[in-house]
Amino acid sequence: MRTSVNIGDTELSVWQQGSGRPLVLIHGFPMDGRLWLDGPAVPAADRCRTIVPDMRGFGESPATTLTMSPAAMADDIARLLDSLEIDEPIVLGGLSMGGYVALAFHQGYADRLAGLILCDTRAEADPPEMKENRRRTAESVLNDGPEAMVRGMAEKLAAPVTISGRQEIVDRLVEMGIAQSRQGIASAALGMAERLDMTEQLPSINVPTLLVVGDSDGLTPPKLMGEMAAAIGDNARLVEIPQAGHIAPMEQPELVREAIDEFLAEIA
Ligand code: MLT
Repeated sequence: MRTSVNIGDTELSVWQQGSGRPLVLIHGFPMDGRLWLDGPAVPAADRCRTIVPDMRGFGESPATTLTMSPAAMADDIARLLDSLEIDEPIVLGGLSMGGYVALAFHQGYADRLAGLILCDTRAEADPPEMKENRRRTAESVLNDGPEAMVRGMAEKLAAPVTISGRQEIVDRLVEMGIAQSRQGIASAALGMAERLDMTEQLPSINVPTLLVVGDSDGLTPPKLMGEMAAAIGDNARLVEIPQAGHIAPMEQPELVREAIDEFLAEIA
């Protein structure tokens, strides 16, 4: 069921299903909750209470600010939990940009976490040339709309095997990206450029952490996520998803769901 939830200064469009342990799943850039829901890659209703928000400026949630950093998005998640009157520890998952948000949430709200799911993401901050790219992206999307950026990105996000054999997934991704608001995309791009480096924080993660990566993820490859898992240590487990790129929940929803189900069963 989708509802609009007031989080103080704005409303987030939030999809919810099931009861029990709260599992919050955050989408990547420039996407919305459909990343998790289309497959679907979310667990069945009897497994947990799944909460999939459209982050501020994406999907059906309005954009309100010029810059929206992963840390600010993490604050939105904390406010969302307050609005939903959830005070028990949650499992928080995110893909790529959503993973930046999950790590920022860990930094600010570790006591609200029972587990983390880091999907096709990284802990490093942007290098200088990437920060500059983000600024150019924001400017061009504000001026000319997202289509050129989204079409260019789609080829990098999906695995070669997805592009050659499952064009409908690429089409869905492009359609979702083009539907996002100019301001939402620009504010998140500028916000990601500002994000802090979280690599030093990884060893302090002391909740069970599932890392999920597509075997053909060219943006955050298995090797990088393997290093991230090693830095987290004994609490981390890495699952490599075959025939998937950077958007594993869209490319292989059943396998991602299976990995999440197994992880949740262990957390209990
Ligand atoms: C994403 O999928 O969320 C993006 O690749 C994140 C980024 O641009 O760093």
